[in-house]
This record gives sequence, C-alpha cells and structure tokens, in this order.
Amino acid sequence: MKGFTIAVDGFSSTGKSTLAKAIARELGYKYVDSGAMYRAVALYGIENGLIRSDSEVDVQGIVDALEFIKIEFQYNVNSGESEIYLNGKEVEKDLRSMEVNSVVSIVSSISQVRKAMVKDQQRMGSEGSVVMDGRDIGTVVFPNAELKLYMTADPDIRTERRYAELRSKGTVVDREEVKENLLKRDKQDQERLDSPLLKADDAIELDNSNLNEKEQLIWVLEIIAKRKEKALG
Ligand code: DC
Repeated sequence: MKGFTIAVDGFSSTGKSTLAKAIARELGYKYVDSGAMYRAVALYGIENGLIRSDSEVDVQGIVDALEFIKIEFQYNVNSGESEIYLNGKEVEKDLRSMEVNSVVSIVSSISQVRKAMVKDQQRMGSEGSVVMDGRDIGTVVFPNAELKLYMTADPDIRTERRYAELRSKGTVVDREEVKENLLKRDKQDQERLDSPLLKADDAIELDNSNLNEKEQLIWVLEIIAKRKEKALG
C-alpha cells in the first residue's frame, strides 16, 4: 500500500516544519519544505537584482527567470536533514534572512511562480509517503491528501519562537520588527488572490500555543494510526 500524503498548512512560525519533519522521521517518509522553494525564488531575485525591496520587485523579470531557477532537495546523511539547493548551491541558511522574509510573500503571490512550484511539488510527492508543509498543500497541491493539518498559534507566542530562532542563528533583530513582519506575512498570505492561506474543509486544526513538540507529535501519530487502520479496513 502506498504511504500517506500528509499536508501541513498554517500561519508563519507555527512550527509547521518542526512537526512535519518529526512526522516524516517517525514514519520514514520524505519531507518537503514548500516554503523554502518560494524563499529560493526570492533569494534568486535578490541576488540577481530583480528584487531591491518589497516595493521594487521586477515581476516579469522573475517570471522570465523561472526557467533558469533549479531547486532541489538533497538528504544530508551527516545532519539527517534534507537541504535545499538553488542552482547547485546549498542555500538553507541564506533563505532565512530578514531580507528574504520581507519579500517572499510578494514573490509567492505571483501566479506563474506558484504554478511552477506546485508542479514541482506534485512531482516530488507523486509516490506518496510524503509530508509537505506550506500554505496551500491541502487546498491546491494535494487536495486528496490522506491527512491535512492546519496549524495556528497565538501571535505573541509565534513572535517569541521566531525571535529566538533568529537570535540563535546570530541574527540581530528587534522583537517588534519580527512581530510586524509576521503579521504582515499572515495578512499577505491570507489575502493574496491566487491560492490564499485557508483551512481546507477536511483539515484538522491544531492550535499549538500551549503544546510542546513531543505532545504534538504524539497527537498526530495517533490520528495517523487510526486513519491507517481505517484505510486497511
Ligand atoms: O513557510 P515559510 O515561512 O518558509 O514560507 C515562506 C513564504 O512562502 C510565506 O510567506 C508564504 C509562502 N508560501 C506559499 O505561498 N505557499 C506555500 N505552499 C508555502 C509557502
């Protein structure tokens, strides 16, 4: 039997990738960080002078460049994590800068960019046994996923998590700036015309404001076990 396709959608900094990675590790599934793909396109735009700020984005330039943007995930045996490569270069850390954060929602609102990313995501998940996190995985990329999660958490708690993450990587940031960026991205993600962030009808909502990583994982694994049992009849 083909393994499940698991879609993990939700707001920024709700711990989607932490949970998605843990599920994938536990089940021996492939993990795909779809947000990293939009971030890679944004990084390409910044590095190639197509994006100067969030108000100076050369949309047509980005669309034209799509055919030259090659995004791949490779499993690193040493770290046990999958890493993203942009045109052959490992860019995992470069994707998490405040500069990329501040333009990525705009890049991800470009329909042609979405079309190209969705096609790639569907190819990567075509064999099942995959956990993919993002904003439109349960609604657009895999509408028939066997399990869809929709993650939320209190904005102040999300700000703290994101702030701590940036600080731990040595990024000097202001807490207020982090919160502002987070709320702005929520708004842009929910209000964009093409594939906005929304809960699929059959998604299960997970508010993890007061849950730790282990508690969330146990909760999801129980749901998966029940669904597998049901699928086997
Ligand atoms: O999950 P993340 O914060 O790394 O995602 C970065 C941006 O990409 C986010 O602002 C919304 C966008 N995104 C999207 O539009 N669709 C996805 N499936 C994943 C991310």
